[in-house]
Amino acid sequence: MPHLRLLLFVFFLLVVAFVALADTPSQTTPYWAFCINPVTPTPAKPDDNPRRVPNSSAVFTTAQTQDLFNPPDWHPPDHPPMPEIVVHGRKPDVYACGYCHLPNGMGRPENSSLAGLSADYIIHQMTDFRSGARKSSEPRHLPVANMISRETKATNQEIAAAAEYFSKLERKIWIRIVETSTVPKTHVAGWMLVADTPAATEPIGQRIIEMPEDLERTELRDDASGFVAYVPEGSLKRGKWLVTGGGDGKMSPCAKCHGPGLRGSGNVPPIAGRSPSYIVRQLFDMKSGARSGALSLQMRRQVVKLSIDDMIAIAAFVSSLKP
Ligand code: HEC
Ligand code: HEC
Repeated sequence: MPHLRLLLFVFFLLVVAFVALADTPSQTTPYWAFCINPVTPTPAKPDDNPRRVPNSSAVFTTAQTQDLFNPPDWHPPDHPPMPEIVVHGRKPDVYACGYCHLPNGMGRPENSSLAGLSADYIIHQMTDFRSGARKSSEPRHLPVANMISRETKATNQEIAAAAEYFSKLERKIWIRIVETSTVPKTHVAGWMLVADTPAATEPIGQRIIEMPEDLERTELRDDASGFVAYVPEGSLKRGKWLVTGGGDGKMSPCAKCHGPGLRGSGNVPPIAGRSPSYIVRQLFDMKSGARSGALSLQMRRQVVKLSIDDMIAIAAFVSSLKP
């Protein structure tokens, strides 16, 4: 019965194809929120020239500013003393928390601000990263991969010390939100968007373009130099409608759980004034199921109906609020 066998085989192929398609995420990750560094042949060796930044008497070489176990602290008077795990990490596995999240905890678009999150919430997220309940929809995103594979090797005591430290830091205005139709042309470098040289412009389209206010200071990891995020025209108004009104029943108004002004309430984290790239990443990850810890299931119901355009509007508005 060769025909029957052939028929069965074709049927089998169809089933395999169907399962594969059903497994494929319906939307690909927006590149501007999940920035992936291009593969460079060999990165340039950092030089030994002394470097300075405004309003600091500190001097570091470029190489020192890139030390994952001893990141530069340009403004020690601006924050309390850092616990060992934040300032040095623990060799060989755990990088200093302050390298990526910065000594003042304000973070960068490719990671997250931790300043002023509750210590319980921080510990809870570390548990989710460790158990695999919190992943990224984009496995090639090295900063998140490092957060998961290295930082969760910190002991519970070290995590408690880091959580205590970051929870005490002040949340401040760190990202300037600008509605516009035209943006600087950018490319990905250092896991974030940076302006092309020579400078050029292009239409924003449906994207958020978050980039350093001053690339040189950001590259030196100066935690007194923040970011600007360009958002499409009309996003703030549409975002406000979605966030405060629930967008005609698409979801609940966010303040119901995130508190007045979205500044957090109990274990529900503050989201006002935080990075719009980070916010889009989280909404996307919660929708895709990559972030699926027990507490995030409350968010699942909020994000199921959201399109990328909705997420852009929501993130633009939330980031523009006073932290
Ligand atoms: C290699 C860079 C890197 C280092 C070092 C690092 N993190 Fe992170 N961290 C990240 C990234 C990237 C994210 C954002 C994950 C995402 O976008 O989903 C993150 C997110 C977090 C979050 C979630 C914040 C939120 O609002 O939910 C916590 C908590 C956190 N990190 C704690 C720590 C602690 C504690 C340390 C030190 C033990 C540390 N991190 C060190 C890269 C890093
Ligand atoms: C029913 C309660 C509830 C509502 C309503 C809600 N959230 Fe949340 N949200 C949570 C909880 C709980 C968490 C923490 C999830 C976790 O621990 O993983 C969270 C986390 C988040 C995060 C991740 C923050 C971080 O630090 O990583 C973002 C972004 C967010 N919510 C945005 C929103 C927006 C925007 C809305 C309105 C559209 C909204 N939420 C409505 C309960 C809610």
